[in-house]
Amino acid sequence: MSAQKRIKTEDIASPKGMRDITGELYFDYQGFFEKAQEVASYYGFQPIELPIIERELIFTTTIEEGTDIVDKEMYTLRPPKSRDKLALRPEGTAGAVRAYIERGMQSMPQPVMLYYYGPFFRHDKPQKGRYREFRQFGLEIIGAEQAITDALIIKVNMLMLEEAGANNIAVKINSIGNNECRVNYIKELTAYYRKNIEKIGKLDKQRLKTNPLRILDSKDPNTMEVNEGAPDSISFLSTDCKKHFKKVLEYLEEMKIPYQIDKALVRGLSYYTDTVFEIFEDITDEDGKVETVVYGGGGRYDYLAKTLGFKKDLPAVGSALGVDRIVEAKWYKHLKPRIIKKPKFYFIQLGIEAKMKSMSVIEILRKAKVGVKQSLSKDKLSVQLGIAEKLKVPYTLIFGQKEALDGKIIVRSMDTRSQKSIEIENLSEYIKTLK
Ligand code: HAM
Repeated sequence: MSAQKRIKTEDIASPKGMRDITGELYFDYQGFFEKAQEVASYYGFQPIELPIIERELIFTTTIEEGTDIVDKEMYTLRPPKSRDKLALRPEGTAGAVRAYIERGMQSMPQPVMLYYYGPFFRHDKPQKGRYREFRQFGLEIIGAEQAITDALIIKVNMLMLEEAGANNIAVKINSIGNNECRVNYIKELTAYYRKNIEKIGKLDKQRLKTNPLRILDSKDPNTMEVNEGAPDSISFLSTDCKKHFKKVLEYLEEMKIPYQIDKALVRGLSYYTDTVFEIFEDITDEDGKVETVVYGGGGRYDYLAKTLGFKKDLPAVGSALGVDRIVEAKWYKHLKPRIIKKPKFYFIQLGIEAKMKSMSVIEILRKAKVGVKQSLSKDKLSVQLGIAEKLKVPYTLIFGQKEALDGKIIVRSMDTRSQKSIEIENLSEYIKTLK
């Protein structure tokens, strides 16, 4: 064997901002994904699994230059011996619309309502609640322009968060209008920044030429100060855009969803039109410092499909929740995924005859979708009862020598200690009647 170089542990560490998810944390994520899917399907969303890698232009043409995502956060790939320019997906909306166009979803009943979840990648500075590989749960309603669809997206997000334990969340909302409203707004905004050109950051000076709206989203402290006096988009809305925004707000009021109009909210992606929103919580720490956590965001993107080559405007609205921030929240309920839900029954076998037949009995229960735990490697009644007590199951199923011979099993309530002998062939029917 050739002399091998010694590899140090730090040389094989997972990339910065990416982690293994194991144990309880793994179940925390799965529990949330299950609950979110349950709520999304109830409201009519269909699942879609999108590729983790897309062509880079899917993102550069829709999220656009001048945004942090496209300018500095995208993981791009150039596979060897290929001209493809690919990227790890930084978000899901552009891919979902790509799928809509590519799969001819315009011939399906409209709107097409999709949900998706999984990992996304942004080469951002890792910190609490911010990773380079993170997980989102996204919703998209493609092919509808009605204000109720904007409200439905917000409502379903609120429900998912509340089901997960959130009780102090609210919505920040704004309307940035459509192209028509934006012409005058951008003129005004550009004039304002020109007047303040000496005060804004270097990157923002560049943005003034390419994408002035993005300056409103700047993280530069000098620009942020200038932004405080910037003209707001709501004052430039056309009658139709104003009407749409007003309707969305009326729905939120009707549903008693707490919201604040935030005239500075433009979001970090360029594809939005009209409604933009974020769901947030202000958390005060022990020293009285307030930190705002944004659990999710979204908005309307009526021109995105056309940017990707679709022949006409395709009104659409969507959102994404940051699942890492949800499972790390103090209020998170640690939702349990189905595979580790508390069993109702504990199966006890006693004697060789019963042990032999026990797997056939368990199989009857598995097929009947009855959750049962067991410890087939244990023999003693006391040991098995001890485990049942620890698991806090309401019922034990006792399968002894006599029962094995008679084709019966004892169902015992751990609470009342009452028990009943049941024919095995009637077992799954019988236990479904138990509370
Ligand atoms: P976004 O605001 O970029 O929107 O991301 C949505 C949520 O993902 C954020 O509110 C945050 O909770 C979470 N998130 C974003 N970046 C990170 C990160 N580096 N680490 C952890 N969590 C993060 C979108 O992605 C749009 N596609 C949403 C949308 C769908 N708009 C219309 N349809």
